[in-house]
Amino acid sequence: MIVRRFPNPGAVARACARDLVAALRADPALVLGLPTGRTPLPLYRELVRLYRLGAVDFSRAITFNLDEFVGISPRDPRSYHEFMHRWLFRHVNLRREHTNVPNGLAVDLDRERARYERAITRAGGIDVLLLGLGANGHIGFNEPASALEARTHRTRLSATTRRANAGLFGSVRAVPREGISMGMATILQARRIVLLATGALKARSVQRMIEGPVTPMVPASFLQLHAHAEVWLDEAAARRLSIRAGL
Ligand code: GLP
Repeated sequence: MIVRRFPNPGAVARACARDLVAALRADPALVLGLPTGRTPLPLYRELVRLYRLGAVDFSRAITFNLDEFVGISPRDPRSYHEFMHRWLFRHVNLRREHTNVPNGLAVDLDRERARYERAITRAGGIDVLLLGLGANGHIGFNEPASALEARTHRTRLSATTRRANAGLFGSVRAVPREGISMGMATILQARRIVLLATGALKARSVQRMIEGPVTPMVPASFLQLHAHAEVWLDEAAARRLSIRAGL
């Protein structure tokens, strides 16, 4: 894993946005995997700013989000669909039919998870997958467990994850108990992975992800097995690492 350290979350976001703009210039039909959560917000803001300056064109790009809540309509303001529209999609020239988020309200979730996998395959696979990191080491909604799911699947959300998402729903009790998420093989098949983690709350799971054993109890530790996985950190998230990766 390549570890990059930055002084603060703003520096992570600016560097990551510059990197994505370059990737989109090199390949305008780039297939991007996208996370939700607080961590990518400065990045999405920076991408919108660069788009308004005319520095980036999303017209041929395709996006796949990692996950969604089960039982929540895509039009519900608390859904990850709406989250993506609010923070990124509606501000840039991504074509609506090029943005993909699992449908947590699908009548047949088995069909939905197969459909999502097929859509990723049809798009040619994910070129750059951006990830956030749960405070418990999850990625997407792949929660710590004795075994992990390979493909897009329905999953039970942990208490930690429900607490972390309480802001969207007003209270922990209102957060859905289940999600639909890309699986670990879906994630590891991306050609390049860039995980962003900022803030002291992530320091412990960052350390376990990078320096601990590969274990389903820390789903993000599986990134150690990927040939092109990068972890971009601010100082607060990197502070428990014993290795000295450069600023
Ligand atoms: C959520 C999402 C993840 C996200 C993570 C971290 O539960 N399902 O995709 O990466 O939590 O969120 P945050 O960036 O707000 O800490």
